[in-house]
Amino acid sequence: MNKINSKGLLTGAIIALNVLCNVSFTKAQDVIIPIETKDNALVLQVTDEKLLNMVYFGSKLSEKNEYANIAKIYKFGGSIGTYNNAYTTAGTRNLMEPAIAVTHADGNKSLELKYINHTVTKINDDVSLLSISLKDSVYDFEVTLNYQTYYNEDVTEQWSVIKHHEKKDVVLNKYASANLCIRAGSYWLKHYHGDWVKEMTPEEEQLNHGIKTLDSKLGSRTDLFQPPVFMVSLNKSATEDEGEVMYGNLEWSGNFRIDFEVDPANNLRLIAGINNFAADYNLKAGVEFATPKFVYTLTNKGKGEASRNLQTWARKYKIVDGNGSRLTLLNNWESTYFDFNEEKLAGLLKDTKKLGVDLFLLDDGWFGNKYPRNGDHAGLGDWEANKAKLPHDIAFLTKEAKANDVKFGIWVEPEMVNPKSELYEKHPDWVIKQPQRPEIYMRNQLVLDLSNPKVQDFVFGIVDNLFVKNPDLAYIKWDCNSVIFNAYSAYEKNQSNFYTDYVLGLYKVLDRLRAKYPKVPLMLCSGGGGRVDYGALKYFTEYWPSDNTEPIERVFMQWEYSYFYPAITSSNHVTDWGKQPIKFRVDVAMMGKLGFDVVIGKLKPAELAFCQAAVNTYKQFSEEIWHGDQYRLQDPRENDVASIMYVDPAKTTAIMFNYLVNNRYGAGSNMPIRLKGLNPDKMYTISEVNVFPGTRSTITEATYTGKFLMTIGLNPDVRENRASVLIAVKGN
Ligand code: DGJ
Repeated sequence: MNKINSKGLLTGAIIALNVLCNVSFTKAQDVIIPIETKDNALVLQVTDEKLLNMVYFGSKLSEKNEYANIAKIYKFGGSIGTYNNAYTTAGTRNLMEPAIAVTHADGNKSLELKYINHTVTKINDDVSLLSISLKDSVYDFEVTLNYQTYYNEDVTEQWSVIKHHEKKDVVLNKYASANLCIRAGSYWLKHYHGDWVKEMTPEEEQLNHGIKTLDSKLGSRTDLFQPPVFMVSLNKSATEDEGEVMYGNLEWSGNFRIDFEVDPANNLRLIAGINNFAADYNLKAGVEFATPKFVYTLTNKGKGEASRNLQTWARKYKIVDGNGSRLTLLNNWESTYFDFNEEKLAGLLKDTKKLGVDLFLLDDGWFGNKYPRNGDHAGLGDWEANKAKLPHDIAFLTKEAKANDVKFGIWVEPEMVNPKSELYEKHPDWVIKQPQRPEIYMRNQLVLDLSNPKVQDFVFGIVDNLFVKNPDLAYIKWDCNSVIFNAYSAYEKNQSNFYTDYVLGLYKVLDRLRAKYPKVPLMLCSGGGGRVDYGALKYFTEYWPSDNTEPIERVFMQWEYSYFYPAITSSNHVTDWGKQPIKFRVDVAMMGKLGFDVVIGKLKPAELAFCQAAVNTYKQFSEEIWHGDQYRLQDPRENDVASIMYVDPAKTTAIMFNYLVNNRYGAGSNMPIRLKGLNPDKMYTISEVNVFPGTRSTITEATYTGKFLMTIGLNPDVRENRASVLIAVKGN
């Protein structure tokens, strides 16, 4: 049991059950709140003026009493650095970027939050919640800061809950989820930009004084140009295995804003939350506004460890069925596009069986009657099966699937509408558009107004009806292909609430669906990876990283996604993109959740035999790929050969993926590649798997200690005509 000692220091193993700490202030700086995880501590300190400061974020100290000394040693730059830096307010003494800015009911814009008390709740052996209550002394306005720690994973989720009892609405002009103040010699930010088929393009830069902002104003498909993930290395750019590095991800599927301000005293102030652009939020008295969660991890062991922390946390606590299994599948998008009928689909269901995968996924184009969905210009919104293509409805397909002993899944894009649709004709007021301006389309479509509860019911109904009418339906791909132009809601009384309410409306729908269908696999797609974040992934089993399935591009893209998301969530489909042979394409897709989108009938017999065998090999190694620890061995941006491996939690089996990503003369694995994550004392037998029929492996099966494989390494012999090589590493 923890105790508050005479100095107000929270001692003991970090957590007590619902301890309410009401502290009396007798002398300066007498409350220290360390938030500890396995290796780290984030330390908050309350000053004698009851201001709350973050004084430390780094490796845990062995003597907890010493946390009280940190602020004396670190120089934060006097009042610049330590004025309420745990959640910086606006309109009083702070002149740095605020985490929160408000307009009170009387029009006044000042806020100064003071510490009232804190509680610590132990949720289970791993998870604890620290809630700190802060209040303004002039206005009846309060904020609770929440820090939920995942001890063994070294992960924290932080968010705030805002409430007031003023006479009228208070306008939240800025309402961040988290504010961190970090102290290091220098800061190196790695972040991402992109576009359609160019997702997760990395950039790294040293942060200089001033503010660097990562943000999105796209409304929906929010991550099209920039996702809400980043890493910050402290003192020097971290490598895979060395250096202090923090990863962050805002769990929000709408406009986000993450500010990195290096202040005049050289502190890094990180503020992450909903983007306040055109989004002043009107908050009624007595209503609690909970910001989205900001999740982060810190390690001093490099980027690899940080990613394994997040991946383990995500599988255990965030994504749906993270410790479960996934369905391999055959998708028809690139093999048919909109051009199919019952006969063609019945053939594809047979191909699904022939290939040996679990499920057939019917993509876009199956709906719309007055305005048939025969292209992307019509039909979105009219979710009845098209009578010409599917005269016997979806039931025909679930029945055929059953006859072939495979499962059936379907594509929807329920948040969207084509102007050429019955839905648009019937409910023009459900559509986001400016009443007096021309409509602006992305992919010939508009976005439905999910801030409107009637639209929420409609969107829920689309998916619910599919399941009710087709109880054997086993999978949904949920797409979202448009950003929000002309942001205006016919429903909202206050337009500035719209962007935030849109996302809250989407989450309400997904909450309802998950309450009714807790485990059914859902793929999160947004014209590629336009909506990959942990706010959405809470409801999904997997995501679609990009429409770009060119396999060399995919090696780079999947590499970058892997820093933040576990392989089990990455839907990788084998398609006809690129010039690489089928073996290369399948090998790359096997690094995550395997699927196919090729015409099976066009495969040569050896290619089909290879694919069938690969599906079996994939199933043999799914424990390592889905639930194992992932180690990036050689970065494609720095080497001719990219290499990545997965080890099962017991370190008994591993699989190593190697790809040639440079076609210059002589490029290949000229040096052995060191493995990671094995048991040094264990013997492992290595052999090549996924060998193409009619070719011979150049790898001789041999047995080595884990120590040997991790010190000397092994050479997968990757070169021009062995451009992708998979090595099985099996413990004896
Ligand atoms: C965009 C997705 O990213 C594709 O995979 C496909 O589902 C199309 N939409 C269908 O319109």
